Amino acid sequence: MHGSSPTSRSRRSDIPRILEPLREDLELVGVKYRQILSDASRESRDMVRHAARFNGKRLRPAMTCIAARLAGSGITSDVATVAAVVELIHTATLVHDDILDGAEVRRRVATLNTRWGDHAAVLVGDVLFSKAYRAAAYLQDPFASRYLSDVVAKVLEGEIHQDIAAHNPSLPESAYRQIIRGKTAALYEAAVTVGAHYGSGDEALKTALGRYGHHLGMAFQIVDDRLDLTGDEDTVGKSLGTDLNEGKMTLPTILWLAAKDAEEQPAARALIERAWQDPEAALELRRRLDSEGALDRTDAVAREEINEAMAALEALPKSPERDLLATIAGFVTSRTR
Ligand code: FPP
Ligand code: MG
Repeated sequence: MHGSSPTSRSRRSDIPRILEPLREDLELVGVKYRQILSDASRESRDMVRHAARFNGKRLRPAMTCIAARLAGSGITSDVATVAAVVELIHTATLVHDDILDGAEVRRRVATLNTRWGDHAAVLVGDVLFSKAYRAAAYLQDPFASRYLSDVVAKVLEGEIHQDIAAHNPSLPESAYRQIIRGKTAALYEAAVTVGAHYGSGDEALKTALGRYGHHLGMAFQIVDDRLDLTGDEDTVGKSLGTDLNEGKMTLPTILWLAAKDAEEQPAARALIERAWQDPEAALELRRRLDSEGALDRTDAVAREEINEAMAALEALPKSPERDLLATIAGFVTSRTR
């Protein structure tokens, strides 16, 4: 976990090329991240370190650092801390999510639940979460503790909604949007908002960046859900297909069903319900999502979200940082992992 260890070297190379201009900022965030976890007990340390391997693409910390640059201060100790806090909250949610999804692999390594069991994984997720909260609570400005407690509630409520909505083939697109707004977009929005706040930005900057973060997060989850149905586990590096196994309706399936006329609806609904139980039916559904245009329509919706994110950036003066946010937005829709 420390500066020049093999782990941190391999993690360095994990930063997507587009984030190279932020390498030094991200290294400072990494230092804070490790500091926040440095007093983990001897018994939990291996598990905590293992969980730290899940923060791969560094999109959220990068967005926090860019927001702070746009706000004027650039990377300060507090900005690095809030970036690390948001990333740690994200890591904690992934640890818990993998238990709920029964996922075996994330970022090409075993999930905590696979390696140490559900019981330990729940507790480690809680440790990460409480350490993140403690770091926020020690900041002079209480904004992060107050704001992030609301954000985390939104993430949890998104997850609860998703649970309640499972096995409902009639789930409307609006409900799906509400779910992903909470479970994913809220934390993307938070990443830029805390960067703008602790970078001493004004309300106009916070609003513009918050809008950008929200739409980027929506696009990210739509692409993630498409990859869960159609991606290759070796390329994506995590367990896939869990959405269908758990009866989750995601955008490709919602759009596919919505495009069917009244006579086709019962058979389409029946195929979806079979796909929740039977791998053969799941394969058939995947083929039809592709051949009947639902995947293309999903990609178009993700692009619309990205266009909205880009439009939010228009409110900001031209700068290399604004360009970098636009590049990150492009990266989200083109990603295959
Ligand atoms: C990934 O979804 C999961 C999330 C975006 C949020 C999960 C949040 C929780 C389980 C709540 C836990 C909260 C705290 C504060 C510890 P996904 O399964 O669609 O994506 P994946 O393919 O990456 O697993
Ligand atoms: Mg999952």
